[in-house]
Order: sequence, then structure tokens, then C-alpha cells
Amino acid sequence: MNVLDKTFRPFLSAEVLNERIKELATQINKDYIGKNPIFIGILNGSFMFASDLYKNITVPSTISFIKLVSYKGTTSTGTVITAIGLEEDLTDKDVILIEDIVDTGKTMKEFVATLHKQSPASIQICTLLHKPEALQHPLDLKYVGFEIPNKFVVGYGLDYDGFGRNSQEIFQLDE
Ligand code: IMP
Ligand code: MG
Repeated sequence: MNVLDKTFRPFLSAEVLNERIKELATQINKDYIGKNPIFIGILNGSFMFASDLYKNITVPSTISFIKLVSYKGTTSTGTVITAIGLEEDLTDKDVILIEDIVDTGKTMKEFVATLHKQSPASIQICTLLHKPEALQHPLDLKYVGFEIPNKFVVGYGLDYDGFGRNSQEIFQLDE
């Protein structure tokens, strides 16, 4: 598949994604028995994952979204900008962040630090993808869908300069 100037090959099929997302939801449902967590999806990349995950969540909970932009092209720019703020009061709440991918970890690290100022009861991260080799900012990742090699991926919400989000599967850069 081509996105802009680059070629990608199939990497994670819709079936494989769906199966793993159901497992993650089952685990979260178990871990949050008796609690009312608030899920916070990180836009834009996590919109498909957040949707599919949340359909399988059975504990009484709420969901909200925030937009952080930290990426240009195929390498991190290292800047994190909050474009859409969070309106909910997180005091004493059990927060579950839904992210598409943790690459260097900078985005999540900075966002988690910001959220801690609101004194939530807990903050956990649920990321569909994680590139362990790229991690520069150590993070406690409670729920990880797939650990993947340090290669650029697109699809299922993930983009290359805004394009390539619209697929049911994930593709990996062919290089
Ligand atoms: P980090 O701050 O380096 O962990 O970057 C995380 C953000 O960069 C993610 O939320 C994605 O939006 C983006 N990102 C990192 N790796 C990829 C990739 O392989 N494909 C598409 N976006 C990526
Ligand atoms: Mg993102």
C-alpha cells in the first residue's frame, strides 16, 4: 500500500487487532471491578482503537478525548502541544489513557505529569502499540496490545503526515 511517497506492507490484520483488543478489554474489566474509571482517548491516532476497546468495556465508566500533537513525518519532533483541553475534573478518579502507540514515550510522560497535578486516584496507560527499542522516557505501561519493532506503521487510526489512517489493519514501512 502507498501513503504519500512511501510504501507499506501488511503487518497486523483486522482479525489479529480485534482479538487482542478484546483481551485488553477483558483484562481492564477485571482490574476495575467495583470502580468507575474514566477513559481518556488521545486524538487523533487512537480514535479507532478507543472506539473498539470501549465497545468491549463492561465496567460502569465514562470516556473523554484530548488532542496532543507531537509528531511530524516519520520522526518525533519532540514537541507536545495540547490542542484540545480536558474539561472533566479528575480528582480521585481512576484514569485510563488510551493511546495508539508509545514510541519514545515523551508524549505520554509529559501528559501523565500534567494529569497528576489534578490528583486522580490512579492513572494507567493502555496503548495499542509499543516500540520498546525506541523508548527514551521510561513509562509504566499497564496495558500493551502489541510490542512491535522500531519501524514506522500506519493504518487503523495511525497516520503518516495525516494520511493512511483509514484502514482496518496496520501496515509497516517497507524498507
Ligand atoms: P512519542 O512521544 O515518541 O512516544 O510519540 C508518540 C506519538 O507519535 C504517537 O501518539 C503517534 O501519534 C506518533 N507515532 C509514533 N510512532 C508512530 C508510527 O510508527 N506511526 C504513526 N505515528 C507514530
Ligand atoms: Mg498519537
